[in-house]
Amino acid sequence: MKILSIETSCDDTGITIFEAKGGINSASFKVLADELASQTVHEAYGGVFPMLAKREHLKNLPILLEKALKKAKLVNKAGSPDIDLITVTHGPGLEPALWTGITFAKELAKKWGVPVEPVNHMEGHILSVFGKTKGQFQIKKPKTPALALLVSGGHTELILMKDWMEYKIIGETLDDAVGEAFDKVARMLGLPYPGGPHISRLAEAKRENDAKVFRGRNFSAEKFTQSSNRRSAESPKNLASFSLPRPMIYSKDFNFSYSGLKTSVLYLIRDLEKSGKKIDDKIKSEIALEFENAAIECLTHKVKKAIEKYEIKTLILGGGVSANKHLQRELKKMVRKDLAKQKVELLMPTLELSRDNSVMIGIAGYLNYLKRVKKGKKIKPEIIKAVGNLRLE
Ligand code: KG4
Ligand code: ZN
Repeated sequence: MKILSIETSCDDTGITIFEAKGGINSASFKVLADELASQTVHEAYGGVFPMLAKREHLKNLPILLEKALKKAKLVNKAGSPDIDLITVTHGPGLEPALWTGITFAKELAKKWGVPVEPVNHMEGHILSVFGKTKGQFQIKKPKTPALALLVSGGHTELILMKDWMEYKIIGETLDDAVGEAFDKVARMLGLPYPGGPHISRLAEAKRENDAKVFRGRNFSAEKFTQSSNRRSAESPKNLASFSLPRPMIYSKDFNFSYSGLKTSVLYLIRDLEKSGKKIDDKIKSEIALEFENAAIECLTHKVKKAIEKYEIKTLILGGGVSANKHLQRELKKMVRKDLAKQKVELLMPTLELSRDNSVMIGIAGYLNYLKRVKKGKKIKPEIIKAVGNLRLE
């Protein structure tokens, strides 16, 4: 069947057209067209403005649809293309933004006489690890129990899948999301929005440089003396001269907290400025490195605990922050070395599919549509609505 997939939950407008076939355990997809428009208008404000996002989606959707239909060669004279199903994100996300995609989907469904499958954006991020933006791909049912770490600008969640496509949130952030903390710290350092990739770039460069210094035996132990942090002292790779907290790292649950870490950076910058230090590029990269180490360590520590507790066989990483190189490296190291005996398979999305996209929405939509058909259930497009705080349970 041919699927038109729509994503408008935040500041990316996505439209994908697929040819999909096979059952829930053997689904395969061929991408016929994939269009994504990222809204750059928010950069100037240092965050996403819902009403501005809505305006941009409204502008982008018809343009992207026309482009995608042409690319997929599905435009016919009757004006009703050969589409069998529409999938659309209905939450979580910014409600005004979500509504643009939902209303667009409903109008097309009415015009073309096809069903609409509403999709949970977070399920999309989980299934993004199977997708591609071009060519063909297959969904290989992962070994269960599986664990998903979903990290984005709005979410920091640990999801347990005892069975394929059965979800239970076992941990989440109690305040800010990890991506949000990256963005806010970047703003404090005068870096552009979204700040995650900028912080990460600075941190990687500093990490590499520190490693070179260490390898060159110019490494001076004094550099660690101001660090009260056990991890900094143990790791020769981190020459940061100050340390930041790892909030909730030793809490007995699987929850996270990022607002305190963000505030610690604010106080650190204030104290450095008070002591007459200029927040120059050198200090910025030191802060970026220590912040990234702290933020990622909070994630990996809880992931390891959860893998051990639930005897996890597959670890899935998803969401915008999954593009973070340090996070990817630490998780790879964890499954290969620390948890080698458990033989955990690590699945990560491609860089293109780590961010918001409509490929992942199409995958989740098709699989859920199959489940619905199997149960003999139908969904009336009119009842689909935007749910800003939709949960995956
Ligand atoms: O999933 P996503 O595209 O949108 C949301 O649903 O939020 O995630 C965007 C978030 C932003 O906070 C951005 O700064 C962060 O992902 N991000 C990163 C990196 N690339 C994107 N954070 C850390 N390191 C990165 N390399
Ligand atoms: Zn997302």
